[in-house]
Amino acid sequence: MRRLALSLIGLLALLPLASAQTSAAKPMLAATPPMGWNSWNWFAGKVTQDDVKQAADLVVSTGMRDAGYVYINIDDTWQGKRDASGVLHPNEKFPDMKGLADYVHSKGLKLGIYSSPGDLTCAKFEGSLGHEQQDADLYASWGIDYLKYDLCGFRTKLDAEAPGDKLKQNVMMRDAYVKMHQALLKTGRPIVYSLCQYGFDSVWQWGPEVGGNLWRTTGDVRDNFPSIALIAETNVGLGKYAGPGHWNDPDMLEVGNGKLTMDENRTHMGMWAMLAAPLLAGNNLTKLTPEVTGVLTNREVVAIDQDSLGKQAERVYQEGPVQIWSRPLADGGRALAVINFGEDTTFLRGIPLHLKEAGVTSGMKARDVWAAKDLGAIKDDYKVALKRHEMLLLRFSK
Ligand code: GLA
Repeated sequence: MRRLALSLIGLLALLPLASAQTSAAKPMLAATPPMGWNSWNWFAGKVTQDDVKQAADLVVSTGMRDAGYVYINIDDTWQGKRDASGVLHPNEKFPDMKGLADYVHSKGLKLGIYSSPGDLTCAKFEGSLGHEQQDADLYASWGIDYLKYDLCGFRTKLDAEAPGDKLKQNVMMRDAYVKMHQALLKTGRPIVYSLCQYGFDSVWQWGPEVGGNLWRTTGDVRDNFPSIALIAETNVGLGKYAGPGHWNDPDMLEVGNGKLTMDENRTHMGMWAMLAAPLLAGNNLTKLTPEVTGVLTNREVVAIDQDSLGKQAERVYQEGPVQIWSRPLADGGRALAVINFGEDTTFLRGIPLHLKEAGVTSGMKARDVWAAKDLGAIKDDYKVALKRHEMLLLRFSK
């Protein structure tokens, strides 16, 4: 029975894939990791329509849009109540969702929204349970381009209907994600589908089957370095599951939210670029400093993240607190990150690079990306020096 349930899910999910393949005219959704801004990390439950409008304005005026940040995503707490026909209305913080979408679109940007397969979201606002098609149609009628679908309230249903039965719970969870995927497809509007269930049941193994363009691999990111280091560690070995149209999501960026040093901001951003991660800035754009803007919009770092080959980095080796991650690039080159995760505040000197082990072939030329400096053809005896939590990001080209 369980097997049957699983295979039905598989079949259902494959149908849209088959139709997508036949309609060659449709461009692939999320062919590179989605980039944009999301309200949660900074504004959380306080976000209003004006904050979102202002974020759209600032994404344009700071040059973030031109660097690739196009999705303006409203997270939890926009929802009001359903009317007698079950149609959901935004709450008083978002008086005109259609107007907001038009405004965001007029700036050459896209608008994202948030819901849950449960009756309630994480912040205890209205979820989509039992109203999936109605909600998908509503999003499409407003002109929504991206949906983050957060398990949250659905966990209560899982515990009530299948107490202690993990296998059944997993089938129910996948079913819930398929249901919204089908509903989104039925609208006919291209809507990026972001699964948020914190990596349960190794979501990277089945995320594409249920229609996910990206899926969270961990719990929530926090504005501190241990959180960034833990998320990087949890993503070891997941590279093979990512690729054009379907990405591992190590969660939104905390760059510029105030608690990370500039070295840590660069390491966070550079690590996410190595992970081919969706780049959703989560900061208060009204407080952007030129330094933080420089980190978020660094063209060479963004280019690694957005590389069309879509191959996520893997950790190739570590020496003490230093980790070396490597990813192949579309031009036949490689990106290499050398990161000092250690706590020692004294400069770590003489870190050796094992280039061959990291996939760098002889004769390749190196560029120090953060320093924007060509290094020429470096050899295995090239020694790196790093401060606490600092990253050296190298791009090798043939
Ligand atoms: C969960 C998600 C967060 C955010 C909040 C909103 O914690 O993981 O990213 O969406 O819910 O309530």
